[in-house]
Amino acid sequence: MSGLRKGLTSYGDAGFSLFLRKAFIKAMGYSDDALDRPIVGITNTASDYNPCHGNVPDLIESAKRGVMLAGAMPMVFPTISIHESFAHPTSMFLRNLMAMDTEEMIRAQPMDAVIVIGGCDKTLPAQIMGAASAGLPTIVVPTGPMVVGHHKGEVLGACTDCRRLWGQHRAGTIDEAEIETISGRLAPSVGTCMVMGTASTMACMIEALGLSLPMAATAPAVHAERRRIAEASGRRAAEMAVAGGPTPRELITPASVRNALAVLQAIGGSTNGIIHLTAMAGRVGLKLDLAALDELSREVPVLVDLKPSGAHYMEHLHHAGGVPALLRELAPALDMACGTVAGGTLAEIAAGAERVPGQTVIRPWDAPLQGSGAIAVLFGNLAPRGAVIKQSAASPALLRHKGRAVVFDSAADMAARIDLDDLDVTADDILVLRHTGPVGAPGMPEAGYLPIPLKLARKGVKDMVRISDARMSGTAFGTIVLHITPESAVGGPLALVRTGDIIALDVPARRIDLLIDQAEWATRQTALNLAAPPFVPGRGYARLFATSVLQADEGCDFDFLRYDQGEST
Ligand code: FES
Ligand code: MG
Repeated sequence: MSGLRKGLTSYGDAGFSLFLRKAFIKAMGYSDDALDRPIVGITNTASDYNPCHGNVPDLIESAKRGVMLAGAMPMVFPTISIHESFAHPTSMFLRNLMAMDTEEMIRAQPMDAVIVIGGCDKTLPAQIMGAASAGLPTIVVPTGPMVVGHHKGEVLGACTDCRRLWGQHRAGTIDEAEIETISGRLAPSVGTCMVMGTASTMACMIEALGLSLPMAATAPAVHAERRRIAEASGRRAAEMAVAGGPTPRELITPASVRNALAVLQAIGGSTNGIIHLTAMAGRVGLKLDLAALDELSREVPVLVDLKPSGAHYMEHLHHAGGVPALLRELAPALDMACGTVAGGTLAEIAAGAERVPGQTVIRPWDAPLQGSGAIAVLFGNLAPRGAVIKQSAASPALLRHKGRAVVFDSAADMAARIDLDDLDVTADDILVLRHTGPVGAPGMPEAGYLPIPLKLARKGVKDMVRISDARMSGTAFGTIVLHITPESAVGGPLALVRTGDIIALDVPARRIDLLIDQAEWATRQTALNLAAPPFVPGRGYARLFATSVLQADEGCDFDFLRYDQGEST
């Protein structure tokens, strides 16, 4: 048992160092009995800016109870909190900072195991990246999804319906007063977005990776069951503190990563899930293969009927049996021998899954929602290191499309021109946005969901092919190519496109190409090579980010944070 002795550094007198630690911590009123136990650290990411984490204080209480019931000592400590709507310039810009904060605070303070509690999009990936590098036994407690909202007899979800209803407001069919009313109904409780956005996607993948207890991904944030899951996680963490495992490094394996990718496809998950899983796997020395992901997309059907690919919301997935029931249906595509923090294997979890008569949210393998997986990986002369499209949320008629490029050079350029009446654009054109990648924006914002130009939206155009080096919210819908890698700001071929060029998208063939001749390509490339390099900020985290961030196919982690064989943990 290490407890308070963990990581003790002494400058000559180990006994004195421990004595000092005890003397200070006793100021909080702890007894020797409390301090002489294994310690389970618990992250606190509660923040007034983060409604997705609004139940964190409750979950901490429950987790602490579980730790103490199992005879260990819980110690809560703060780390950064990031909410999607309140993180300038983007939450993705801050993910690696949170991962560093989490890693270093786990390392710095004495603890034998750690419970990370989080939920809003970037949080769980950041926490797992940090915890994987820190190397302690770790258990994840997601904050859980919000319950659904209602408006005029319709069920609403943040934030798939945010976009749809805002689109109707832009088109003039929802007036100012009604859109105000709707803003009070889209997110009716604390917790994460209750569609299959990034938060839900990550929670489901993490449960499939075995890093959280069964049903932890789906239990609504405000349900009593979520608190019981937190309590049970506390108990397990106390056992893991004594046993010394499993650690994330033991659970994140080639087989479990492949399982997580299959789950990503089957749930119609967020494209962001690929970047985050790449970054998490990178922390244990694994490289995520985009070609393997694409193979899975042909093999694994979409089984979960959730927005934005389907009709339902996270609480319905929960009541249908949650991830354990999904694992049972998805078993043909999974390695069921993978272990979990619960102590057994995925096979045991699937065997214990509830069977809910008449439920239609989790489809059986032979009667899927869609025959092929949610996310396809594209290559081509425009995307030498890959791009992704969420085909399950795209318009089938546009999946093979040739069109004239209408280029926006940055998010600001797009904002300035997209709604102009004299914008030269038709519904058959392909909207191109660049300088929105990891370095270019910076932080690879969720700008990939380019709005339909107002003059076309007014005519009833609902979807167009849109391509960029940006990311997109997992809650969005449309024929949208994302993560074009390498990005334009570091000289990727997206930088070569000009308005009027023809671009060919062929999702069945997994291609995206710019159709210009070789001589013209070479001329433009030469000009691009002479252009000024991207601006590098002079100081602070922005400088660290600009000089260290990797491309999307490497998870946008920092180059110096990836797994290093020689690192000491
Ligand atoms: Fe936090 Fe959607 S804004 S999960
Ligand atoms: Mg999101």
